[in-house]
Amino acid sequence: MAAYEYETHDYDVIVVGAGGAGLRATLGMAEQGLKTACVSKVFPTRSHTVAAQGGIAASLSNMGPDHWQWHLYDTVKGSDWLGDTDAMEYLAREAPKAVYELEHYGVPFSRTEEGKIYQRPFGGHTTEFGEGPPVQRTCAAADRTGHAMLHTLYGQSLKQGAEFYIEYFATDLIMSEDGQCQGVVAWKLDDGTMHVFNAKMVVLATGGYGRAFFSATSAHTCTGDGNGMVARQGLPLQDMEFVQFHPTGIYGAGCLITEGARGEGGYLTNSEGERFMERYAPTYKDLASRDVVSRCMTMEIREGRGVGPNKDHIHLNLNHLPPETLALRLPGISESARIFAGVDLTKEPIPVLPTVHYNMGGIPTNYMGEVLNPTAKNPDAIVPGLMAVGEAASASVHGANRLGSNSLIDLVVFGRAAAIKAGEIIDPKSSNPTLNAASVDAAFDRFDGLRHANGGISTADLRMEMQTTMQADAAVFRTDKSLAEGCDKMTKVAAKVDDLKVTDRSLVWNSDLMETLELTNLMPNAMATIVAAEARKESRGAHAHEDYPDRDDKNWRKHSLAFVKGPKVTLKYRPVHLEPLTAAKDGGIDLKKIAPKKRVY
Ligand code: FUM
Repeated sequence: MAAYEYETHDYDVIVVGAGGAGLRATLGMAEQGLKTACVSKVFPTRSHTVAAQGGIAASLSNMGPDHWQWHLYDTVKGSDWLGDTDAMEYLAREAPKAVYELEHYGVPFSRTEEGKIYQRPFGGHTTEFGEGPPVQRTCAAADRTGHAMLHTLYGQSLKQGAEFYIEYFATDLIMSEDGQCQGVVAWKLDDGTMHVFNAKMVVLATGGYGRAFFSATSAHTCTGDGNGMVARQGLPLQDMEFVQFHPTGIYGAGCLITEGARGEGGYLTNSEGERFMERYAPTYKDLASRDVVSRCMTMEIREGRGVGPNKDHIHLNLNHLPPETLALRLPGISESARIFAGVDLTKEPIPVLPTVHYNMGGIPTNYMGEVLNPTAKNPDAIVPGLMAVGEAASASVHGANRLGSNSLIDLVVFGRAAAIKAGEIIDPKSSNPTLNAASVDAAFDRFDGLRHANGGISTADLRMEMQTTMQADAAVFRTDKSLAEGCDKMTKVAAKVDDLKVTDRSLVWNSDLMETLELTNLMPNAMATIVAAEARKESRGAHAHEDYPDRDDKNWRKHSLAFVKGPKVTLKYRPVHLEPLTAAKDGGIDLKKIAPKKRVY
């Protein structure tokens, strides 16, 4: 066993990750008097939620008629009928309450003339169960909504007495022999000390794994750490084949240009100056859902109508909008376009390209955030002591494709739900579980093994091999050939983790070791993604398979579960929840309204 001294900390709840979901869970736990700590590898207000621009969806009806059932319908259709109906109902119903709570906590939302929260249109959000015009449902703080939320939630969490362990990297879960989560092991980055956090409940809020790909809107910190920890315990990852490409990443740099830009009236053009979305999605045009828009852009480029010297990207036009609107509603992207594309968007179009943006898949949970470990007898069996929320989790509200602005609402609705559930099941007077020494030792052994890794390939080189393979073979369009090649290449790439070389053996600010630990988290995410994608012989949401262009509900309306052990992935499946929480006779949705049909915009 590797010999490290460590400090032990006891809490009712440990939240790992301080983005929107982690902070909302932390706040909710602390508000109820649970002794709560949040462990984060970055300062909370630098978490990736800070990059969320356009807004947060909730049917407030501030700009015109709206209804939670319309939001539910749009989410079901957006998910391409793969989301769990109970979780999607919970999201749409609770969304207004969750947004008003944010307002009361102090989030500085933009305002209408009457002083109400300003809402803008976003792709795939409609009225009248998809029969009416687009709805203005996305509540915005200019184009810095995530930034505003993080600052407010962090301040409120501190006010409620939550404790923060900042720049602590959580390396592994501690599990009892009978499968209960008991805490986490963490490494303090700035002084090299080691820590064991013992808790009645661990909440993973570690975000997505966009950095498994070469070009992503995600921060470099988005390395799927919680997913990696879960996979190492033999627990499954769900629906990992569904990776969202955002239509408007800045060409070359990959930075996000919010969908709110099209919500405010922006539109896409090809090399002929044509507004091509009118051809593909005659009703909602540039405001079709983002998987659809990304595919249309890719088709335009493939057919030779891309812009630029290499005809390899598309133009996003905003220069017809009044400069005052751009300054008021889209100040952040005005700056990003100038810095990262050298473009003055009041005068010129922005060069854009579909860019990896979001992971629909993740750690399977129920709609109260409890992590699932499905068994043959019980597909909804839970892992005691473990929750997951936010992009790390698959609740599953986004199914095969997430609607824009449904992510921020997912963070707060399910961060809040996890706190409500924890309040019900945790007795703060009870003692914490006795830690399983073997599990703690295993975590330290893994850490020490990587710290002294002395193989033949550097972390940076292996990461590049993974990123370029995923970018090429798990792309917007996929084929049997590209996926089979991707599986083959990724199996070889993942096997090289055993041959890593770490050059810095110190414990203080060792970015080589930190990136190596992150790579060991990215790798199971990447493996699960490519293998689950290769197995799914249909097209659904973000999984556009050219050899199987249609959705196949008979055989494939099911969640995939990937169990990853090194380079080996075993797949199982779990049924989609088709029942809503509320029966129609009690005010719930009429199931006929959300029955599967062809998905057109
Ligand atoms: O386009 C955007 O502002 C991104 C929003 C989202 O992913 O929900």
